[in-house]
Amino acid sequence: MVAVKIMSVYLVFVIVFLYLVWIKCIYYQHRRTLAKSLKRIMDVVSGRETDGADVRALIVTAHPDDECMFFAPTIIRLVELNASVHLLCLSEGNYYSQGAHRKQELLNSCAVLGIPASRITIVDHKKLPDDPKAEWSVSLISSVIVKHVRGHSFNMVLTFDGRGVSGHANHTAIHKAVSHLASTGQVPHDCCLLSLVTVGLFRKYVSLLDLPLSWLLTSSLCCAVTSQGYRQAKAAMLCHRSQLLWFRYLYITFSRYMFINTFRMIPQGPKNLKIY
Ligand SMILES: *[C@@H]1O[C@H](CO)[C@@H](O)[C@H](O)[C@H]1NC(C)=O
Ligand SMILES: *[C@@H]1O[C@H](CO)[C@@H](O)[C@H](O)[C@H]1NC(C)=O
Ligand SMILES: [Zn+2]
Repeated sequence: MVAVKIMSVYLVFVIVFLYLVWIKCIYYQHRRTLAKSLKRIMDVVSGRETDGADVRALIVTAHPDDECMFFAPTIIRLVELNASVHLLCLSEGNYYSQGAHRKQELLNSCAVLGIPASRITIVDHKKLPDDPKAEWSVSLISSVIVKHVRGHSFNMVLTFDGRGVSGHANHTAIHKAVSHLASTGQVPHDCCLLSLVTVGLFRKYVSLLDLPLSWLLTSSLCCAVTSQGYRQAKAAMLCHRSQLLWFRYLYITFSRYMFINTFRMIPQGPKNLKIY
């Protein structure tokens, strides 16, 4: 009986150890495959040889703090690969009349992540109020995004998926807008669209332990940071002082999005605008 107990404790120990070794191995491979998958995505849209420095990426978010809560691993990795990373934030986060303050926090957070102020655009549109009860107009968001993409010739746009990570109406509205642009063929042909995969509640809060699953499930792009990148993401989170309630600290500690981002390609309809 005692022998069985010792055996099972031993077995659990071995399994945990192997799991951690597996995570370590994935990190090792990731160094090569990230540049490769970026290249694959870019080659599809541009039809020529590209590397990290050719990437002009635009991250589209709804609120100041979305960039570090949800996109930090991606921003950190792309900046490392010398991509030119820009941010379009569709609100000042003015819901509690702290707009100017939150704007400064956003600039500080982005500076930590590697996005200079000159590459940040914050939309303060009267029609995009930061209010849960007001639904953002999809056509308005679409026109803001498409103007920005054309104006700066971005070749990669990264934003939320249809579930918006937290399910926030602001986030899903952006996805709807980008999908609308994609399906109506309004996106420049050399620009690829990527949506951040929303994972279930359990996977969302197992931090780094989600890496093997994220790695195994197919995605177009997987960005994972090591402990150094995590510290950077955490420092960016801490720039948003006004948002630092106790549960934010739990988020920093347990969220998978502090370590891992996976993206799927948003299919672009070749001008398949149907007229009914
Ligand atoms: C990024 O650019 C720097 C400076 O030009 C260079 O030293 C570095 O090797 C580049 N990194 C990558 C991943 O290409
Ligand atoms: C937008 O975000 C704010 C604060 O992050 C939130 O209070 C509000 O519910 C959101 N607005 C919409 C339209 O969902
Ligand atoms: Zn948000």
